[in-house]
Parts: sequence; structure tokens; C-alpha cells
Amino acid sequence: MQATAEIAERISTISVSSTLKVSADADRLRREGIDVVDFGAGEPDFPTPDNIKQAAIAAIESNFTKYTNAGGTLELREAIVARHSLDFGTNYSAAECLVTVGGKHAIFNLIQALINPGDEVIIPVPYWVTYKDVVNYAGGICVFVETDEHTGFEVTAQSIERHLTPRTKLVIINSPSNPSGSVLSKEEFRGILDLTSRRDIFLLTDECYCQFLYDDDPFSIAAVPGAKDTVVVAGSLSKTYAMTGWRIGFALAPAPIIGAMLKLQSHSTSNPTSIAQKAALEAMRGPQNSVPAMLAEYRRRRDFVIARLRRIPGVSIAMPKGAFYAYPNISVAFGSGRVNNSMEFSSELLAKAHVAVVPGEAFGTNHHVRISYATSMAELERGLDRIDQFIATLRG
Ligand SMILES: Cc1ncc(COP(=O)(O)O)c(C=O)c1O
Repeated sequence: MQATAEIAERISTISVSSTLKVSADADRLRREGIDVVDFGAGEPDFPTPDNIKQAAIAAIESNFTKYTNAGGTLELREAIVARHSLDFGTNYSAAECLVTVGGKHAIFNLIQALINPGDEVIIPVPYWVTYKDVVNYAGGICVFVETDEHTGFEVTAQSIERHLTPRTKLVIINSPSNPSGSVLSKEEFRGILDLTSRRDIFLLTDECYCQFLYDDDPFSIAAVPGAKDTVVVAGSLSKTYAMTGWRIGFALAPAPIIGAMLKLQSHSTSNPTSIAQKAALEAMRGPQNSVPAMLAEYRRRRDFVIARLRRIPGVSIAMPKGAFYAYPNISVAFGSGRVNNSMEFSSELLAKAHVAVVPGEAFGTNHHVRISYATSMAELERGLDRIDQFIATLRG
């Protein structure tokens, strides 16, 4: 019997993360000695701030290297809720907080803890790849809500309302959004909360990029009075503190939901790494000046990338208001025979022009690619010149 025949059926409900696949393809070319410009990676190019690194070194030296409480140390949970309160005006207790192995783990645990087979989950398009797969893995049904690129891909309460049914259990909002960089206005977000809370539907707010906003002040829907009963926050230190490899995220939710997530976590990963928890404690309590410094640099890059993309004939893009991604419409390059969708565009771009981007297909739209501008200006210039030339060649 072939080994693949032995694989459990539920694994066939999910696919390999396409963002990770792009990185692997780019790595393969690089190992062959090819000079690849990588716009695929969704992670800051900045190092983790020094005070955070020093806290981890001190944790090792003081032998803080054993199991901790499976849901994270009490001091870290207290520090997370204190930071969230300081930044956004929320009032969570440590019992309403779970420390997880990255924000992705918080989302995975939440969906496994909440979704029964047949439950519907509302996901605005374009979406971060993982939502769809973890909902499928739980046996839930993804209900996609289309948005319009001409209005910056901003989802509206009205369009969500049209998709609600008696089976709707959860609405997922990611603002700022990966991949589009769209940001919901406070009014629209409140409108969505009004809809969900009235019907006892849960609202998952993925705050992964919450500190990277170009126009507005950081905002959490969890701070709205009464929101805590139905809102679940998925937080991450990965982008805010350039800590992608440390794997620390968190969930803020009503205590019974945290309890259910903890039960699952206690039988899977157990505690996030003790040393990374000490680093996270410093991130929460220490100086915050690295965050605005990164944001200022992202803004400079965003302005350059958008202006440069708009100079490519036929390419259109809405101005991203947050995160560090550009999501241009590149369908002007389709129809040559070689390239007819975002997947073919990305593979050809990597193979011929040696630039890695993520195809929009991974995020639920087919006329776009995602460019991460969390990379140096020199790389951005080089890569965008190559994209410009590549599109020109395709158009003949
Ligand atoms: C929208 C969104 N949510 C959550 C995450 C999870 O990040 P992590 O697991 O590194 O905390 C990511 C990472 O790319 C993301 O883009």
C-alpha cells in the first residue's frame, strides 16, 4: 500500500500555505546561484530590537528553560492585557488571555474550539490564506464576501449582512489586511460588531498588523463597550516587534473560550517556548520606539512602491492604508498564451525575471499579486524594474 493512502482524510481538506511555497521556490533558485528578488516573504526585514534579544539571553542564563503554564506565564498574560489596555483602552484580565505559538496558533485553536461541522464562517475577500484552511479543517463552511478593489477592498457591514444565515457562527475581520493593506473605518467596524453581537455571532479580529497604520491611530474593536462578550482578538508579536521566528501570539476572549482553546493547546504544543515568553515580556513592557521607527520606514517604501507600480502601463492599485503589502491588479499582462492568471504570472515572473511574489489566487482573487515591501529600497527598485520589463515583454 502506498503511504499516501494512509493519510487521514481531514488532511486533504487543507493545502500547503502558498506563501511558504513561494519562499521555498525562491530558495531553490537561490541555491542554484540565481539572483532572486524576494517580495514573497511576509515578515519584517528589521532585526528583533536589542532589548528583546537581551531579555531572551538573560532567560537562558537564569535557567528559565523549563515548562511553564501551558497557556503562558501569568506575568506575560498580565503584561499582554496591560499593553492592550494601554494601546487600545481594553480591559481584559489575565484569565481572558492565552499565549500561543504565534498568532496563527491562536486562530487555529479558536476555530477548532468554536466551529462545528456545517457552521458558517464569513471571510472577506481577499483573505489571508490560513483562514480558509483552518475553517475547512474544522469541517466549517467558508462564506466568502467579495469586496471591490475600486473602494480599496474595504468590506462593508451591509455586504456582510447579506451573507448572514442562521448557521453563521463567526465573522473574521483582518484590518489592516494581508494582502490588500485595506483598513476598516471605526464606523464600519462598529457596524459589523452591531450586526454580529445582536445575533450572538462571534467576531474574530485578527490584529496582526494593528500597529502598522498610515493614516489612522491604532484601534481595537474589543475596546467598544459590550464588545468583549462576542469578540475574540488574535494578536501577534511577529510583525509589531520583528519577532516572526520567536513564535509568540495571543488570544483575548471570554474566559470559557480561552478555557476551550487552552484544553486543545495543552494536548498539542503545550506552552510557547519559555525563553520566547521572556522576550515577549520585554516587548510588552519595554520601550516601544522601534514600532514607529519601522512604520516610518514602511511608509517611505509604500509611497515608492505604489508610485512605481502606477507608472507601469495598465497596472492599477489602491493605496494601502496599513500593513506592508501592495496588491496590484496585473491582469493587463494576461492573454499572451503563456500567462492567463495570477498563478501563471507569478511562476513565469519567478522563472524568467527572478522576482518572487505571491499569486492573488492564494488570497481569493485572480487578477492580483502580493508584493511585500518589507525589504530594502534597493531591492524594491531592482524588483519593480524587473516586473515592469516582464509585463512589457508579455504585452509584446
Ligand atoms: C493576517 C495575518 N494574521 C496572522 C498571522 C500570523 O502570524 P504569526 O503566526 O507569525 O504570529 C499572519 C502572518 O503572516 C498574518 O498575515
